Amino acid sequence: MSLNKRRFNPMTALSTLVMTLVMFPVSAEVNKEQFELGKQKAKVCMTCHGIDGISTQDPYPNLRGQKVGYLISSLKDYQTRERTSGLAILMQQQADTLSDQDIRDISYFYSMLGNDSSSLGDSNEVSD
Ligand code: HEC
Repeated sequence: MSLNKRRFNPMTALSTLVMTLVMFPVSAEVNKEQFELGKQKAKVCMTCHGIDGISTQDPYPNLRGQKVGYLISSLKDYQTRERTSGLAILMQQQADTLSDQDIRDISYFYSMLGNDSSSLGDSNEVSD
């Protein structure tokens, strides 16, 4: 009977679940690993956006505590040249050097900076 072949397969269900967990790790907790990784990768950004994500130069925006989704889409917009106004050319060059994973890590780092629910908030001690 052909219906039998389409029966619920617990192994398929299990591997789907495992894949889902791998791809979407529980995000309620602060991901220190990603934060630290993002911090390393963000060193080059700190020249303009400040060591703590608060820029010291007027034309450079603050990134501290910005929404992760907004950071990611901004960086992609610089890559694809969707954002061209003002000083965007500076950012286009920066964004071009980033992989999708870099963008996710760096955006995570800036979004968590100054976030009260994390113990990572005031990380002024950025080691070289
Ligand atoms: C040379 C200085 C400089 C460096 C280095 C730099 N940025 Fe920027 N960044 C700017 C300027 C200027 C803008 C505003 C550009 C515009 O007008 O769109 C900006 C804008 C942004 C924005 C959009 C902010 C908003 O509120 O819309 C993001 C996100 C961003 N930068 C992330 C980064 C990241 C991540 C790095 C490191 C990989 C980085 N920047 C490195 C100068 C810099």
